[in-house]
Amino acid sequence: QHCFTKSEDGYLYCEGLKVHDIMESVERRPFYLYSKPQITRNVEAYKDALQGLNSIIGYAIKANNNLKILEHLRHLGCGAVLVSGNELRLALRAGFDPTRCIFNGNGKILDDLVLAAEAGVFVNIDSEFDLENIVEAARRAGKKVNVLLRINPDVDPQVHPYVATGNKNSKFGIRNEKLQWFLDAVKGHPNELKLVGAHCHLGSTITKVDIFRDAATIMINYIDQIRGQGFEVDYLNIGGGLGIDYYHSGAILPTPRDLIDTVRDLVISRGLNLIIEPGRSLIANTCCLVNRVTGVKTNGSKNFIVIDGSMAELIRPSLYDAYQHIELISPAQSNAEIVTFDVVGPVCESADFLGRERELPTPAKGTGLVVHDAGAYCMSMASTYNLKMRPPEYWVEDDGSVSKIRHGETFEDHIRFFEGL
Ligand code: LLP
Repeated sequence: QHCFTKSEDGYLYCEGLKVHDIMESVERRPFYLYSKPQITRNVEAYKDALQGLNSIIGYAIKANNNLKILEHLRHLGCGAVLVSGNELRLALRAGFDPTRCIFNGNGKILDDLVLAAEAGVFVNIDSEFDLENIVEAARRAGKKVNVLLRINPDVDPQVHPYVATGNKNSKFGIRNEKLQWFLDAVKGHPNELKLVGAHCHLGSTITKVDIFRDAATIMINYIDQIRGQGFEVDYLNIGGGLGIDYYHSGAILPTPRDLIDTVRDLVISRGLNLIIEPGRSLIANTCCLVNRVTGVKTNGSKNFIVIDGSMAELIRPSLYDAYQHIELISPAQSNAEIVTFDVVGPVCESADFLGRERELPTPAKGTGLVVHDAGAYCMSMASTYNLKMRPPEYWVEDDGSVSKIRHGETFEDHIRFFEGL
């Protein structure tokens, strides 16, 4: 069961509500529309898959930092994965249990590490200087920090290079040949650091679970080595990265259950607690960006649908050449020709496209057009380029009502930055 369905009447529905009716009932600008029940279903799929294991689902806040969504994920039992002091502040504000939160990153700054030490979250050691900073933060906070070593397993995730992280030339994680140096350094700081586990994150949009199996096998080997030196490490953190069906092609992609089942025996064989860090696979398919068609034009050999949304609201196609499925939300007019279009926004650069070479019926002005799978890394990467303001967000509640869950940014909000200067 998926929240967005195209019905035989040609309209797109979200949990049984016509997206067109929602569009007509809210402010006239691009907006993100989520399904709360779909978020619940996605979390339940992970929870079911994890049955029988001690585990933490650490939701990667960077994927989507809407406070209402965070509160809902926390309510469903998720922990959180943080990559900045502000994400930590927001996680605490959303009520996440700090002992189910993990602070990650290759450039964590001292102030943020002090906050993390005070809050009592897990911290991943990423480098020599990071270890020094964590020790200093522990001293300043007067607290011992539970740390995991972020190991680079050097497994190729077979994804776009911008979202690959676990290969040996990546900026993330410690160099494996320096493992002993890190273990000695941890031993040298018994009052500041407690080593509790090992972490890796391979990359994002991964669609083959064998890759996770390979990495987990390598990680188990490191855990054996670490335990061999007398450390009582209990946590294996295999990061996030499970991909989703952006193409809507009907291809069978691995599910959370496939992912967990591929590492389950390894985790059990060593009596470990499993931490996973999903972002995209929890939230991407719960949302569409809803836009209106401004007009249709042809230049040279290209046909364009120009919409009010743009790379400012949703940058993944421009930045990663990512495919996100696009469709009209109402039935095509009976005489509408099917044409190959580039779907573009109004922003002043040619990289401003939401989709290229899409077969769509020629839409009338004002027709609603959605970009699917916009729940992850879309609103959280939105910008105000060209002074397009960041869009409002709505969700369909469990009872089928529609609520606003974040205000749209306004010109007045922008002007506020100049007050008092
Ligand atoms: N853990 C760590 C350490 C990460 O770096 C990430 C994502 C995750 C977990 C969550 O990965 P996920 O399950 O969402 O794949 N902006 C890009 C994606 C960047 C991912 C960065 N790290 C995009 O729009 O595709």
